Amino acid sequence: MVETMSATTPRATGVSGEVAIRTNGLTKQYGERLAVNTLNLEVYRGDIFGFLGPNGAGKTTTIRMMLHLITPTSGSVEVLGHDIATDSAEVLPRVGALVETPALYLYMSGRDNLRAVGSVLGGVPESRIDEVLDLVRLKGRERDKVKTYSLGMKQRLGVAIALLQDPDVLVLDEPANGLDPAGIVEMRDLLRTLAAAGKTIFISSHVLTEVRQICTRVAILDQGRLVTETTIEELVKGHGEFAVQLEPAHAREALALVRAQPWGHDARIDEQGILITAAPDGHGRDLNLFLIHAGFAPETIAPQAQDLEQIFLRLTNSNSGDAQ
Ligand SMILES: Nc1ncnc2c1ncn2[C@@H]1O[C@H](COP(=O)(O)OP(=O)(O)O)[C@@H](O)[C@H]1O
Ligand SMILES: [Mg+2]
Repeated sequence: MVETMSATTPRATGVSGEVAIRTNGLTKQYGERLAVNTLNLEVYRGDIFGFLGPNGAGKTTTIRMMLHLITPTSGSVEVLGHDIATDSAEVLPRVGALVETPALYLYMSGRDNLRAVGSVLGGVPESRIDEVLDLVRLKGRERDKVKTYSLGMKQRLGVAIALLQDPDVLVLDEPANGLDPAGIVEMRDLLRTLAAAGKTIFISSHVLTEVRQICTRVAILDQGRLVTETTIEELVKGHGEFAVQLEPAHAREALALVRAQPWGHDARIDEQGILITAAPDGHGRDLNLFLIHAGFAPETIAPQAQDLEQIFLRLTNSNSGDAQ
């Protein structure tokens, strides 16, 4: 299932191709400040959609509008085919959300927090509480007071609350924020599990590396505007370098030739004797053809691991420390 979701083109869709969330010209103005500026987004069912941007980009404001917590200045949001402004009572029970840090009762146990929210929702069976505790791996700690929980456990309890009504769509605002590396891994595993169970997940982050391994699609927001909406693969394509394994005797000669090309100025040979270079228009296939035509048939050619943060910074023109 996760395989089918790993989309390869910008228009590729999630499992069913149905739109789970759509924003139409969504705009929020605070005084002079356009926090969200004419945002058009489409999230497909089955997507794990990464909503990325530096601090202050407008992510939380967008999410609040999606959840009908604040009213847009203009534009609209459709969730599961319903306009959120007119049909929120019908559609919001099908959406689980965690916006910023969860509001938890610190002097109550995890289980009692879930019971308390459950009763506000009109009653949730104990069996469902057991299920969500299991999902977020808080079984065993569910009777301890929440004030003894780590930040990661509190965030997972927040996700458990969002899951109580078994929603089709989960909207999570920076769920990995402030977590240590182990907490981020646990959150990632949890989201993978939920996606495999068929949920559509919309997750915001200002740290690309937190979400890159799990997202099927990403949108990048900067100063309220959509910078790009694409797949991780597309985001990387055209900016990456390739590792080319050549016959050792040919490596130096090939390097000289590649460096003479407009796209190859930064080419180099690494400690293992592998030629590292950009490709014509970013296409590995064209690099391969170029080398073959020049008489240096590569043994292997592979895209290099990408420094996605660099791409992120370049796209958002951010030079502050915010978008780490
Ligand atoms: N209630 C508000 N009143 C005035 N300005 C706000 C309000 N909420 C957010 N903003 C401003 O809108 C911009 C986007 O904020 P936010 O949506 O919180 O960004 P992000 O979640 O991406 O960090 C920021 O410049 C922020 O200061
Ligand atoms: Mg925010």
